[in-house]
Amino acid sequence: ASTLGASAAEQGRYFGTAIAAGRMGESDYMNVLNREFNSITAENEMKWDALEPSRNSFNFSTADRIANHARSQGMMLRGHTLVWHSQLPDWVKNLSANDMRSAMNNHINRVMGQYRGQVHSWDVVNEAFADGSGGGRRSESPFQQKLGDGYIEEAFRTARAADPNAKLCYNDYNTDNWSHAKTQGVYRMVRDFKSRGVPIDCVGLQGHFNSGNPVPSNFQTTLQSFADLGVDVQITELDIAGSGSQQANDYRTIVQACLNVARCTGITVWGVTDKYSWRSGDTPLLFDGNYNKKQAYNTVLEVLNNG
Ligand code: G3I
Repeated sequence: ASTLGASAAEQGRYFGTAIAAGRMGESDYMNVLNREFNSITAENEMKWDALEPSRNSFNFSTADRIANHARSQGMMLRGHTLVWHSQLPDWVKNLSANDMRSAMNNHINRVMGQYRGQVHSWDVVNEAFADGSGGGRRSESPFQQKLGDGYIEEAFRTARAADPNAKLCYNDYNTDNWSHAKTQGVYRMVRDFKSRGVPIDCVGLQGHFNSGNPVPSNFQTTLQSFADLGVDVQITELDIAGSGSQQANDYRTIVQACLNVARCTGITVWGVTDKYSWRSGDTPLLFDGNYNKKQAYNTVLEVLNNG
């Protein structure tokens, strides 16, 4: 097929992108979005600070514009993200433990309720593990500080009840290299959840690559190892610094690894065009600032079509 989404669909996968609601008035942006992708993630609009800026007062209007666009185009929608220490309003950080627990569960219930039946996969908990050598939890998270290790499990149990048909994912970055302590820490948590029946369906590997976090040669091992625990894997925020054939080859490695792992169900790139990448000054995406297809685009399309 001639587009990313249609080619991925022939392989039984989706190919999505993050979008920003503020760009939806730009016709080039929307043309590429609608032509190439068959899944959408809101880049910021479904985060806690956007949806519940003060306690129990929800504002879904901007997120709904994204959800409605996905529905009108027959695209899938990924939910990002319910419980995260970042882009978290101050009112949550200042709650007592008991109030924080009920606020977390209320947030999950209300947000998942709003998009029940539309979001195929939710990032229930995002970035809960620390960088570095320990493989442990991220200590600066207010949820970790006030509720302890058990908050992740509680969030997943609440999420299962809130939308029994949504896939529930744990999502993180720097978990691509199988030999990294952080990857192993997440792996142990997922293994523990599966062995105790804590509801989890998928692991999201964000896939933000640059010289400090290069594409590892063992990436397929990482995908397969998680899949072997009995969860799906998804590449959820892919972008790769650089340009030209280096960048195209790195994209090839990631996309081919996904196709080689049966439980790798889809790929999302973290933006439509280099022009609006969160990594300003870099060119990590598949379309340049003028919406031209890059070498990396052509390589990804070729890999998707060759299986
Ligand atoms: O909305 C405000 C706006 O009102 C204000 O005028 C403006 C001035 O700075 O800021 C706007 O908020 C910005 C927001 O993006 C929306 O544009 C924030 O400053 C900015 O920090 C925020 O950056 C986002 C970042 O997450 C924040 O954590 C990026 O767009 C977004 O791409 C990035 O995405 C994360 C994933 O959610 C999780 N994984 C890593 C990934 C990359 O950092």
